[in-house]
Amino acid sequence: MSQTVFLINGPNLNLLGQREPEVYGSDTLEDVTVRCDRLARTGGLDLKAMQSNHEGDLIDMIHRARDEAAAIIINPGAFTHTSVAILDALNAYDGLVFEVHISNVHKRESFRHHSYVSARADGVLAGFGVEGYELALRRIISLLG
Ligand code: DQA
Repeated sequence: MSQTVFLINGPNLNLLGQREPEVYGSDTLEDVTVRCDRLARTGGLDLKAMQSNHEGDLIDMIHRARDEAAAIIINPGAFTHTSVAILDALNAYDGLVFEVHISNVHKRESFRHHSYVSARADGVLAGFGVEGYELALRRIISLLG
Protein backbone atom coordinates (compact mmCIF):
# COMPACT_ATOMS: atom_id res chain seq x y z
CA MET A 1 0.00 0.00 0.00
CA SER A 2 1.32 3.48 -0.86
CA GLN A 3 2.36 5.79 1.91
CA THR A 4 0.33 8.98 2.29
CA VAL A 5 1.46 12.60 2.37
CA PHE A 6 -0.82 15.26 3.83
CA LEU A 7 -0.64 18.64 2.07
CA ILE A 8 -2.07 21.08 4.61
CA ASN A 9 -2.73 24.72 3.81
CA GLY A 10 -3.84 27.27 6.37
CA PRO A 11 -5.81 30.51 6.37
CA ASN A 12 -6.40 32.54 3.21
CA LEU A 13 -4.61 30.03 1.00
CA ASN A 14 -7.98 29.05 -0.45
CA LEU A 15 -7.73 32.45 -2.18
CA LEU A 16 -4.47 31.59 -3.92
CA GLY A 17 -4.49 33.07 -7.43
CA GLN A 18 -6.82 35.90 -6.39
CA ARG A 19 -5.15 37.17 -3.23
CA GLU A 20 -2.17 39.54 -3.66
CA PRO A 21 -1.01 37.87 -6.91
CA GLU A 22 2.12 40.08 -6.92
CA VAL A 23 3.18 38.23 -3.73
CA TYR A 24 1.66 34.77 -4.16
CA GLY A 25 1.37 34.39 -7.96
CA SER A 26 -1.57 33.49 -10.16
CA ASP A 27 -1.79 29.71 -9.67
CA THR A 28 -4.77 28.53 -7.64
CA LEU A 29 -4.65 26.02 -4.80
CA GLU A 30 -6.38 23.59 -7.15
CA ASP A 31 -3.52 24.02 -9.68
CA VAL A 32 -0.99 23.31 -6.93
CA THR A 33 -2.91 20.28 -5.71
CA VAL A 34 -3.24 18.78 -9.19
CA ARG A 35 0.52 19.13 -9.82
CA CYS A 36 1.46 17.72 -6.41
CA ASP A 37 -0.99 14.86 -6.82
CA ARG A 38 0.59 13.93 -10.16
CA LEU A 39 4.12 14.15 -8.73
CA ALA A 40 3.17 12.09 -5.66
CA ARG A 41 1.83 9.28 -7.87
CA THR A 42 5.01 9.19 -9.95
CA GLY A 43 6.91 8.85 -6.68
CA GLY A 44 4.64 6.02 -5.52
CA LEU A 45 2.90 8.12 -2.86
CA ASP A 46 -0.69 9.06 -2.19
CA LEU A 47 -1.46 12.77 -1.62
CA LYS A 48 -4.30 14.09 0.51
CA ALA A 49 -4.73 17.85 0.17
CA MET A 50 -6.67 19.88 2.72
CA GLN A 51 -7.15 23.54 3.63
CA SER A 52 -8.78 25.40 6.47
CA ASN A 53 -9.03 28.95 7.72
CA HIS A 54 -9.41 27.69 11.31
CA GLU A 55 -6.57 26.85 13.67
CA GLY A 56 -8.42 23.99 15.40
CA ASP A 57 -9.19 22.32 12.06
CA LEU A 58 -5.49 22.42 11.15
CA ILE A 59 -4.65 20.81 14.50
CA ASP A 60 -7.24 18.07 13.86
CA MET A 61 -5.65 17.41 10.44
CA ILE A 62 -2.22 17.03 12.07
CA HIS A 63 -3.71 14.64 14.64
CA ARG A 64 -5.21 12.56 11.79
CA ALA A 65 -1.78 12.43 10.19
CA ARG A 66 -0.50 10.54 13.26
CA ASP A 67 -2.37 7.45 11.99
CA GLU A 68 -2.67 8.18 8.29
CA ALA A 69 0.39 9.97 6.90
CA ALA A 70 4.12 9.33 6.60
CA ALA A 71 4.80 13.01 5.89
CA ILE A 72 3.19 16.43 6.14
CA ILE A 73 3.78 19.42 3.90
CA ILE A 74 2.32 22.41 5.70
CA ASN A 75 1.89 26.07 4.88
CA PRO A 76 0.25 27.37 8.07
CA GLY A 77 -0.22 30.87 6.58
CA ALA A 78 -0.30 33.55 9.26
CA PHE A 79 -0.57 30.89 12.01
CA THR A 80 3.12 30.23 11.28
CA HIS A 81 3.94 33.34 13.25
CA THR A 82 1.46 32.94 16.11
CA SER A 83 0.53 29.33 16.80
CA VAL A 84 2.20 27.41 19.61
CA ALA A 85 -0.78 25.03 19.34
CA ILE A 86 0.15 24.02 15.79
CA LEU A 87 3.76 23.49 16.91
CA ASP A 88 2.53 21.31 19.79
CA ALA A 89 0.41 19.23 17.39
CA LEU A 90 3.40 18.75 15.07
CA ASN A 91 5.56 17.76 18.03
CA ALA A 92 3.04 14.97 18.71
CA TYR A 93 3.53 13.68 15.15
CA ASP A 94 6.37 11.29 14.28
CA GLY A 95 6.61 11.56 10.48
CA LEU A 96 8.42 13.98 8.20
CA VAL A 97 7.36 17.64 8.31
CA PHE A 98 8.17 20.19 5.61
CA GLU A 99 7.16 23.82 6.06
CA VAL A 100 6.46 25.79 2.89
CA HIS A 101 5.98 29.51 2.36
CA ILE A 102 5.24 30.76 -1.12
CA SER A 103 6.81 34.14 -0.43
CA ASN A 104 10.21 34.77 1.14
CA VAL A 105 8.93 35.66 4.60
CA HIS A 106 12.41 36.91 5.59
CA LYS A 107 12.24 39.65 2.97
CA ARG A 108 8.90 40.88 4.30
CA GLU A 109 7.62 42.54 7.51
CA SER A 110 9.57 41.63 10.66
CA PHE A 111 6.50 39.92 12.22
CA ARG A 112 6.80 37.27 9.47
CA HIS A 113 10.43 36.48 10.29
CA HIS A 114 9.71 34.13 13.17
CA SER A 115 8.06 30.74 12.65
CA TYR A 116 6.93 28.54 15.54
CA VAL A 117 6.62 25.62 13.11
CA SER A 118 10.28 25.72 11.99
CA ALA A 119 11.32 24.34 15.40
CA ARG A 120 9.74 21.02 14.33
CA ALA A 121 10.22 21.09 10.56
CA ASP A 122 12.67 18.73 8.87
CA GLY A 123 12.99 21.32 6.10
CA VAL A 124 11.72 24.81 5.32
CA LEU A 125 11.15 26.36 1.91
CA ALA A 126 10.36 30.04 1.52
CA GLY A 127 10.35 32.22 -1.57
CA PHE A 128 10.18 29.50 -4.23
CA GLY A 129 6.64 30.48 -5.18
CA VAL A 130 4.15 27.63 -5.39
CA GLU A 131 6.98 25.43 -6.73
CA GLY A 132 8.05 25.15 -3.09
CA TYR A 133 5.29 22.60 -2.53
CA GLU A 134 6.64 20.37 -5.31
CA LEU A 135 10.22 20.79 -4.10
CA ALA A 136 9.17 19.67 -0.62
CA LEU A 137 7.35 16.72 -2.15
CA ARG A 138 10.44 15.74 -4.20
CA ARG A 139 12.46 15.67 -0.99
CA ILE A 140 9.82 13.50 0.70
CA ILE A 141 9.83 11.12 -2.28
CA SER A 142 13.59 10.75 -2.03
CA LEU A 143 13.46 10.21 1.73
CA LEU A 144 10.57 7.73 1.69
CA GLY A 145 11.27 6.08 -1.64
C1 DQA B 1 2.72 32.63 3.76
C2 DQA B 1 3.44 33.75 4.47
C3 DQA B 1 2.67 34.18 5.70
O1 DQA B 1 3.37 35.24 6.37
C4 DQA B 1 1.31 34.70 5.30
O2 DQA B 1 0.57 35.06 6.44
C5 DQA B 1 0.57 33.73 4.46
C6 DQA B 1 1.27 32.99 3.43
C7 DQA B 1 3.40 32.25 2.43
O3 DQA B 1 3.04 31.23 1.89
O4 DQA B 1 4.26 32.98 1.93
O5 DQA B 1 -0.66 33.60 4.55
O6 DQA B 1 2.72 31.47 4.59
